[in-house]
Amino acid sequence: MTREELLKAIDEKYEAMGQNPDVHLSGLLHSEPMKYWDFIQVDALLGLQTQRTQLPDEMVFIMYHQINELLFKMILWEMKQISHNKTITPDKFEMHLMRISRYFDMLSDSFDVMGEGMELEQYMKFRDTLTPASGFQSAQYRQIEIASTELINLIDFRFRKTIDRNTSYEHAWDNMYWQAAGVDHSTGKKNKLMVNFEAKYKIPLIEWMKEYNEINLWTKFKQLPESDQKNIKLVNAMRHYDHTVNIDWVMHHYNAAAKYLDSGQGNAEATGGSDWQKYMHPRYQRRIFFPELWSQEELENWGIDNIESYKVLDNI
Ligand code: HEM
Repeated sequence: MTREELLKAIDEKYEAMGQNPDVHLSGLLHSEPMKYWDFIQVDALLGLQTQRTQLPDEMVFIMYHQINELLFKMILWEMKQISHNKTITPDKFEMHLMRISRYFDMLSDSFDVMGEGMELEQYMKFRDTLTPASGFQSAQYRQIEIASTELINLIDFRFRKTIDRNTSYEHAWDNMYWQAAGVDHSTGKKNKLMVNFEAKYKIPLIEWMKEYNEINLWTKFKQLPESDQKNIKLVNAMRHYDHTVNIDWVMHHYNAAAKYLDSGQGNAEATGGSDWQKYMHPRYQRRIFFPELWSQEELENWGIDNIESYKVLDNI
């Protein structure tokens, strides 16, 4: 744009708002130039790390969780651009999915920050101040799952037969696979981890389920013309995402948790109180966002022999 065109566009913009363009140009003349720390809100961001103990490695634990939450936010940001786009092309779908997968790959590949980056003795001490909190209570993680697939794929597979599209959201909620980690096995009642989580997030997450009921990634994929559903780049991106979230990330998380909880030091219980080995392993958990995109053999071996990698398809 030339200077004249720019000034004309500014005039038009502010006149359309009923504002005097000259006042805004004068404001531009007097305003402070932008600075990195203001734009990125560095002071606010770096003021959010509050320890509950004096153990230095607690800081690693807090900051790494915060980094995870920021990346979860970036993931949700991309998901929204797929889900709320009414005329999405397969290329755009694939582009956003790959952005999402890259963020999840970052999370998986960096999990050694937890596994290797804290002294066992320190972790065993500061974890006692966190009970009964757990990353399990991350609402953004649940939002990502819900926005990824149809609810039936997140229902505990033991109860899937009791659920169909006419089941209430409340009933679906009570049968989500992750309810298994929220039960006190001695009493059969919900444990404190779950009671606290539901008190804060049950209502907003049920609203989220409604919002994504027909615009989650899987439903959006199925709404594409049949020929686009056979687009090999898109199918591979869908499979990559499913594998990254539900095997790769899950296994990195499991291995980091095992390092501390299986260490033989302190008590081996999860801070949230789950039967964690069984709950967290993909072999048992079997959370799969897009089951139709995997072969029978791949489904049977989920979390057993396809832990490291999976087959990138050449054609369908
Ligand atoms: C040493 C580090 C970690 C340990 C020992 C650990 C341990 C656990 C355990 C035992 C559970 C099962 C629920 C429970 O009883 O608490 C769990 C769930 C979970 N944790 Fe972690 N965790 C660690 C790091 C993280 C990090 C960095 C995140 C990132 C936000 C995270 C996010 C989650 C999520 C989302 C769940 C629920 C997963 C699901 O339902 O499948 N965890 N964690």
